Amino acid sequence: MKKLFLTVLGVVVVGAAGTAWIATHTPSSPFDNVTASAPSEDLIARGEYVARLGDCVACHTTPDGKAFAGGLEMGTPLGSIFTTNITPDPETGIGNYSLADFDRALRHGVAADGHRLYPAMPYPSYDKMTDGDIEALYAYFMEGVEPVSQANKPTEIEEPLNMRWPLALWNVVFTEGEVYQAKASEDGMWNRGAYLVQGPGHCGSCHTPRGPAMNEVALDESSPEYLSGALLDGWYAPSLRNDPNIGLGRWSEEDVYAYLKNGRNEHGVVFGSMVEAFNNSTQFMSDDDLMSIAHYLKSLPADPDYDGPVWAYDEATADDLSRDVADKVPGARTYAANCAFCHGRDGLGQNEWIPPLAGVSSMLAPEAESAINVTLNGSPRVIANGVPDSYRMPPYREHLSDAQMAEVLTYARSAWGNHGDAVSEEEVAALRSHTDPASIDVIILQMR
Ligand code: HEC
Ligand code: HEC
Ligand code: HEC
Repeated sequence: MKKLFLTVLGVVVVGAAGTAWIATHTPSSPFDNVTASAPSEDLIARGEYVARLGDCVACHTTPDGKAFAGGLEMGTPLGSIFTTNITPDPETGIGNYSLADFDRALRHGVAADGHRLYPAMPYPSYDKMTDGDIEALYAYFMEGVEPVSQANKPTEIEEPLNMRWPLALWNVVFTEGEVYQAKASEDGMWNRGAYLVQGPGHCGSCHTPRGPAMNEVALDESSPEYLSGALLDGWYAPSLRNDPNIGLGRWSEEDVYAYLKNGRNEHGVVFGSMVEAFNNSTQFMSDDDLMSIAHYLKSLPADPDYDGPVWAYDEATADDLSRDVADKVPGARTYAANCAFCHGRDGLGQNEWIPPLAGVSSMLAPEAESAINVTLNGSPRVIANGVPDSYRMPPYREHLSDAQMAEVLTYARSAWGNHGDAVSEEEVAALRSHTDPASIDVIILQMR
């Protein structure tokens, strides 16, 4: 936190030198002299699909609010900011945005009045979107979305850190500012997958580690850190590379497809903040697009130095749990009494409905946050094809103490061949105080 503060302060100070430059530097847009003509139904429909790819609704809508009217609070280390009204209301929304203004907000992080947007709006990813997708998106927001009159809320970031112009420098340093360039060495499917993951899908905003200034350390596969797993908002978004333990090394392309399409596969069920991405975005992607994403992700190499020895199932735990071990080891006792009913003594879960705890990334990653958070608070409801799932992970916040939770998770992270680190009471206590079980009850957000 302190380090971040100093970095941001550094950016502010260095930024002073750049003020004059920034004042005169509004990024240009290919649409600067273009007047958008009345869009066709096809273009609007395509824009709606791009809005699904980009998951705009998840951030620009509150669970009890109107679609795209904004107001969702987003915590940053410097204070809260609120998403804005992006309905076409001329007074409180973006009704007066020209296509070029819209492009600058999406791809450069500059609002129509020239102020810089906080990078909580994922423009470092959206800047890879094609002109065609931006045009379609604009058509949808202007013609396909209901205008809603709802004033924006001011940010709660304290002065002087709420000064927005240093963000222009942040921008120059940390974003690439270029539309996705297809790689000639790869086929069309790979390139489509890369485009979706890096651009509209902004998967890296959760799955890529961030540096001290909150920047994603890599924006494409040229770096081994790209999509190598990251901690954000109390959830650990695991590696999407071929790492066999913390990543997708043991998943096939079909497994990745099924997970993004149905919210589940034999390896796991969507939970934590991935539910937002699934409920509102990935399940609406076309089969071709999902297969392209799977194909691209499966091309990203593992990092054996970081990921450690490959997990292998060990049956001994199930036998131990059936004998007297469960009475003697505190964590095993808690597991047998509370968890085995669903996740099984064999740790293998039940079909596709209850995920295994044997060999999953939340049990193998050095970061135990996802395991702790889901045990404390449960998971937001997964809704596939309009149908809420019937089995849910119950919250144990009220039933298990910090010590009991640390014991049961330490146990599960070492059972069935798992080799995740032990979980401490302090880690559980910290997440208990930082997380709010009410925030877990996210529902699917209707776009119309
Ligand atoms: C991860 C959350 C997130 C997602 C996803 C997201 N936005 Fe945003 N967006 C924000 C935040 C936060 C702001 C306000 C930033 C600020 O105040 O500096 C914002 C601001 C904007 C603005 C500037 C609005 C204004 O009031 O001038 C536009 C336009 C916009 N977003 C459009 C979109 C579109 C279109 C999509 C989908 C392609 C999208 N956003 C997806 C978080 C998000
Ligand atoms: C808002 C944050 C967020 C975004 C955006 C996001 N993810 Fe995730 N993702 C997570 C978290 C947290 C998990 C761990 C929980 C789980 O397994 O469901 C996860 C898990 C996954 C998994 C399962 C990995 C495993 O080892 O179990 C896959 C596959 C995945 N995400 C793919 C994607 C893709 C593809 C995108 C972009 C289209 C994406 N995610 C965007 C947060 C996010
Ligand atoms: C009623 C059935 C049920 C019980 C009992 C239960 N779980 Fe779960 N658990 C689930 C389901 C279902 C999920 C998938 C997330 C969701 O859909 O809510 C899950 C997910 C998880 C995950 C994330 C798995 C992954 O893919 O990485 C962990 C960790 C976990 N549970 C631990 C526990 C622990 C520890 C206990 C006992 C204290 C427990 N669960 C008891 C049903 C259950």
